[in-house]
Amino acid sequence: MVLRPPFRCPVAVHDGAALDEVIGPAIAGRDWALVTSRSWADRNFDARIAAIAGSPAAVISNIDPNPLISRMPLLSEEIPDVSVVVALGGGSVLDATKGMVALKALRGDMSPLLDHLSEGAALPAKILPIPIIAVPTTAGTGSEVTPWGTLWGDDGTKYSINDPRLYPSHAILDPTLTITMPSELTRSTALDAVSHALEAVWNRRHTIFTDYLAAQAIAQVHKYLPVAEARPKDIEARGALQTAALLAGLAMGTTQTALAHSISYPFTARFGVAHGFACSFTLAEIARFNQEEDAARLAPVAEALECAVDAVPDTLERWLVALGVGDVMARHLSADDIDTFGDSLITPARAANNLRHADGLIARQIARRAFERLTAG
Ligand SMILES: [Fe+2]
Repeated sequence: MVLRPPFRCPVAVHDGAALDEVIGPAIAGRDWALVTSRSWADRNFDARIAAIAGSPAAVISNIDPNPLISRMPLLSEEIPDVSVVVALGGGSVLDATKGMVALKALRGDMSPLLDHLSEGAALPAKILPIPIIAVPTTAGTGSEVTPWGTLWGDDGTKYSINDPRLYPSHAILDPTLTITMPSELTRSTALDAVSHALEAVWNRRHTIFTDYLAAQAIAQVHKYLPVAEARPKDIEARGALQTAALLAGLAMGTTQTALAHSISYPFTARFGVAHGFACSFTLAEIARFNQEEDAARLAPVAEALECAVDAVPDTLERWLVALGVGDVMARHLSADDIDTFGDSLITPARAANNLRHADGLIARQIARRAFERLTAG
């Protein structure tokens, strides 16, 4: 019997919002700092928000993709003693901000954070991290509604920070912030959301809530990703993708991710494959693997994709091929590279959530078959 965690969402969610209308009430006259990426800092969002909510005490804009744990001490020191932090950017900015406010609450003491990241030890009960207002500029991570953050070791090992005190206080979804995403980033982030949703469905910790949220997320991406690709400034489509990512994030925030994410991490760390492609290229193959164990579990996916339950793997595969996932993977590595991964495709805490057990050999076989099928022809 798997202990299913309770479903929770302590985040004030503003979907389909206009940032300029919502950010003032969210900051609510408090002193604040902005954490963002260089590219978003260049667009002067600090001044735009300052015109509404007063000047920030600091703008921290040197957040890199795939944030490193080793960068956390310097970054957290840059956060002044403010009442709220606005995190504006993609998943890396949101996740880095969670690490930064946690470390600031620990007064810069890395050892509890490292124990948490490496051994799952709880962060000290007495700390109170600065609240985060999350303003995602991509539509995939779901970090705006989860207590999770992905941080990376210098050696490419992936770690998770996870604490209920790291749920953002607000998630502001302004679809206009996502219209400048280029096509490949739109696909990659949407596929991350699809991966979160699918991994919630075939998860040992799934609940009726997570099934419902995941199915809705998959259906929305399936319907609106082609629209957003054809018309990047289509606000309805961009908003639907943002909401889908949030729904998938809510599902994944309860279930955690599973085998596809476990397999993905070395592909990102060693070969630089963008997270959304790395965690989605195995989805059809994992669906096949799980179908042999419990075909009925794929019913929420079938409903979302409007196909028969036993057609889910092939339907997913056609979708991934159409989105060019195989082409992206082949740009970064060859099938033979997959044989060199050893057992590194298994992150036990993630892989164990999959409804069917998989070891390192099975994970390599799944990855290789998926790679070959998506790159054939
Ligand atoms: Fe992900």
